[in-house]
Amino acid sequence: MAFWAALPASPAWAQGTEEVVRITAKRFDFAPAEIVLTKGRPVVLELTSADRLHGFKCPALGIRVDVEPGKVTRVPLTPDKAGSFPFVCDVFCGEGHDEMSGVIVVKE
Ligand code: CUA
Repeated sequence: MAFWAALPASPAWAQGTEEVVRITAKRFDFAPAEIVLTKGRPVVLELTSADRLHGFKCPALGIRVDVEPGKVTRVPLTPDKAGSFPFVCDVFCGEGHDEMSGVIVVKE
């Protein structure tokens, strides 16, 4: 047994374990639509789709991936600036495509 497992309240990232944020895309939204992260803390975004091909594009953080049904797309991310960074679906997916968006909020 690892002795450090008994240490109190040590955050997952400090133990070298990844913090994972799961995001599901479906016509015509992302769940969750607001993702709150902490500046300098590494996370992995795990994106999947509940219906069809979507896109995930967050230009301010340099992210652009396809989001496919039946597949998990992993995006490692360590935000290096605080702020609110919008993301959108950039694969045409139907009449609600233009409203399919969300925001990544990075706190200090
Ligand atoms: Cu989803 Cu466009």
